[in-house]
Amino acid sequence: MKVKWTMLGMVVFFLLSVVMTCCFIWQYRMPKLKTEVAVKKAAVEDMCPKFPEPVPLKHPITSLRAALEKIDVLLRSSVDNTRLPAISAIVVLNDSVLWNGNFGKRNMSDPSSSAPNEYTVYRIASLSKIFPTLMLYKLWENGLVDSLDDPLEKYADNFTIKNPLGKSGGPTARTLSRRSPALTLRRMASQLSGLPRRLRSTNLLWSGDTKAALNLLQDDVLVADPGTKCHYSNVAFSLLANILAQKVTGSDFESWVSDNILQRLSMEDTGFNLTTAIQKQMAVGVYSNGQPAPLYNLGWYRPAGQMYSTAADMAKLMMALLGGYGWTLLRQDTLNTMLTPVIRCHSSYFANSTGTPWEINQKFGYDVVRKDGDLDGYAATLALVPRLKLGLVILMAGVRPADQDLASQAYSYLIPAVENAFRDAKRTLRPPLNPAPYVGFFTYRNMTFYEIKVDSDGVLVMQQFGPQVDTNVPSKYRTIRLDYLQDRVFRVVFESPYPCKLKVNSASVSLEAQDRQLFNFFPFNKKGVSPGFDSPGLNTYRVTRIAGRPYFTS
Ligand SMILES: *[C@@H]1O[C@H](CO)[C@@H](O)[C@H](O)[C@H]1NC(C)=O
Ligand SMILES: *[C@@H]1O[C@H](CO)[C@@H](O)[C@H](O)[C@H]1NC(C)=O
Ligand SMILES: *[C@@H]1O[C@H](CO)[C@@H](O)[C@H](O)[C@H]1NC(C)=O
Ligand SMILES: *[C@@H]1O[C@H](CO)[C@@H](O)[C@H](O)[C@H]1NC(C)=O
Ligand SMILES: *[C@@H]1O[C@H](CO)[C@@H](O)[C@H](O)[C@H]1NC(C)=O
Ligand SMILES: *[C@@H]1O[C@H](CO)[C@@H](O)[C@H](O)[C@H]1NC(C)=O
Repeated sequence: MKVKWTMLGMVVFFLLSVVMTCCFIWQYRMPKLKTEVAVKKAAVEDMCPKFPEPVPLKHPITSLRAALEKIDVLLRSSVDNTRLPAISAIVVLNDSVLWNGNFGKRNMSDPSSSAPNEYTVYRIASLSKIFPTLMLYKLWENGLVDSLDDPLEKYADNFTIKNPLGKSGGPTARTLSRRSPALTLRRMASQLSGLPRRLRSTNLLWSGDTKAALNLLQDDVLVADPGTKCHYSNVAFSLLANILAQKVTGSDFESWVSDNILQRLSMEDTGFNLTTAIQKQMAVGVYSNGQPAPLYNLGWYRPAGQMYSTAADMAKLMMALLGGYGWTLLRQDTLNTMLTPVIRCHSSYFANSTGTPWEINQKFGYDVVRKDGDLDGYAATLALVPRLKLGLVILMAGVRPADQDLASQAYSYLIPAVENAFRDAKRTLRPPLNPAPYVGFFTYRNMTFYEIKVDSDGVLVMQQFGPQVDTNVPSKYRTIRLDYLQDRVFRVVFESPYPCKLKVNSASVSLEAQDRQLFNFFPFNKKGVSPGFDSPGLNTYRVTRIAGRPYFTS
């Protein structure tokens, strides 16, 4: 085949044909000076993939170990004999524990006290709020709760509260009606219910029941119209837990959690009741003056903050939330919903976004999904980076350091290390059963030309050729590999790391947009070969087979 080549410029992969056209017009019209400035800027290369996919890693990885050592030093130096005598922390990656560190002493007033370990019990305070939320999602997944957006009234007949800020009810709005902005289950689990932090004139030890709570709420007011404003509420979690347990499961909240979550995940040292046996396993929590704090039992607020746990058990919970534990708890789709931010909060709130039941901030572009708990004598943080399948728990007996955020500091070491480990991991790609139908020469509208070959492992390799290929572009980036997914379907894999944007003369092409796209080959013809393929994600159709390598004239 002879191809008359009259196209201006270079065409790298499919996308560039579009990009190039724009660039030429642009370049033509811009004064020369500005073009040069733009080129200089583009010279700073970002490497991609920006968010590498989690892949199984081969340990040891030096940079990862270095990051974990920094976390070790950080936590070790945070122990304080008076205010923070014991810390246990654990880092998980998908389905395995990466690191576990225990610092200080379990009982500072006992000179012979041992160091804590991963089975040392700490109160987890507000991390308890994860459990009513898991209950909500489990009941929803099982179809026992119709919708996460069901209003609370559907499950609590006697629930009323004044909503003076609600627009739809007008000035006479006394109670929430079906038409006013709903106080939904999801909003209760994400600090968006508008419910007050506590019931009127109660503290966390209040021992009333849910009926008494509903009575108190009847003449209380919502602090914000539901769904409009992040406002931290312990009431919301206790109501959610108790009402769902009574109305939907017919049992009590603590038994339900015990049977359906703790036992299922083998969280043997996690629970609500601080029995003498549990107290023997505990690190002694202290106030900032070093005095041991009493082990208060919360009353009606137990679902919002009563629980205790260990680093080992929290690791199991994190693996379940990251989907690395075989989806024993919730399906992946449900987990995705649970770990996604619900709304951005106003600037005076203590987190940028809330989720169910999380506070969410970004670090290096990743969502860090987190819950903190602080209660007399104890502090705890659980923080996940779902996109990297990474989890960290820090359990503290004592007072959380005020001058630095330990979890955030730990992640500033860990996220780059894990990200680079994924980026540098050698990917093994799957070969098709029989490569013959895919091998050969292809063209997209006689503009770009490709040869598909087989490498020594039987994996398909696609290389661009023809006059449009700029020899300044390293051949590494002109060659892509195709990962076999299913019959006639492959996924483009660039060798990582690669520049996000590739500069070709004065144009730039986004390799990032092309990485991981799908190729869907056409059904095989009478000769047993595929006559071409589409790449719907690149909006590119009919890349067709040609008989042989064309030669080009200009
Ligand atoms: C995560 O763990 C699951 C379950 O053990 C496993 O199937 C999956 O391959 C792991 N993923 C990574 C990226 O290691
Ligand atoms: C801690 O040690 C002190 C001094 O030995 C002892 O009196 C106290 O009972 C211990 N506390 C716990 C919870 O074991
Ligand atoms: C709801 O309120 C009515 C009347 O005040 C009362 O008779 C009933 O017991 C209450 N129901 C519940 C579940 O609290
Ligand atoms: C925990 O203690 C409460 C009373 O405070 C009791 O009703 C409940 O049965 C106990 N739960 C377990 C699992 O022992
Ligand atoms: C919220 O986001 C901004 C910008 O992304 C960041 O500077 C700030 O620290 C975040 N707030 C918190 C509480 O992390
Ligand atoms: C490509 O070029 C060949 C040879 O010049 C011609 O036969 C063919 O129709 C062209 N195909 C397309 C899609 O333009």
